[in-house]
Amino acid sequence: MSRIAVVPGSFDPVTLGHVDVIDRAARVFDEVHVLVVHNPDKSALVPLDDRVALLGRSLREAGLPATVTVHSWSAGLLVDYCTEVGASVLVKGIRSQVDVAYETPMAIMNRSLAGVETVFLLPDPAHAHVSSSLVRQVSSLGGDVRPYVPAAVADWLADRSARPDPEDR
Ligand code: PNS
Repeated sequence: MSRIAVVPGSFDPVTLGHVDVIDRAARVFDEVHVLVVHNPDKSALVPLDDRVALLGRSLREAGLPATVTVHSWSAGLLVDYCTEVGASVLVKGIRSQVDVAYETPMAIMNRSLAGVETVFLLPDPAHAHVSSSLVRQVSSLGGDVRPYVPAAVADWLADRSARPDPEDR
């Protein structure tokens, strides 16, 4: 039986740290569903469809195998998606103790809700300081984010700052 793992996240936007964790998951599991989760409580910088498209391009450019596919989910619980596709494992990247503290209650809740286990993978320490929120901040203040994100994302952010949203000013 093939083992499906889901790598969920906001991916607003996808970073090189995410790509590294997805790559590691692809080496461990038969199939990996990268899942862009819509959070109605959070206003995102990158629209949901663009986040899915940027992930697809970034993973292709990184040479990840066809066993890795990108999906989105806005229909409720994350574990409902897992049940729908027959996935028994979630994969999360852990950069520090802060991530462990943040992820632990969610992992236990997901196991309690539907028996879905969470596997924590450690990214390359070179990405330990990289997060989507810092990328958004550095980009919005005119900094160079190319060292931290796939080229497709850097291009998307550069295009966006070239055409600023009037509401941002
Ligand atoms: O990239 P992020 O923002 O850290 O991702 C957070 C995400 C999407 C993984 C988290 O918000 C989540 O699991 N959302 C699904 C909502 C859910 O199922 N909640 C109940 C169990 S914890």
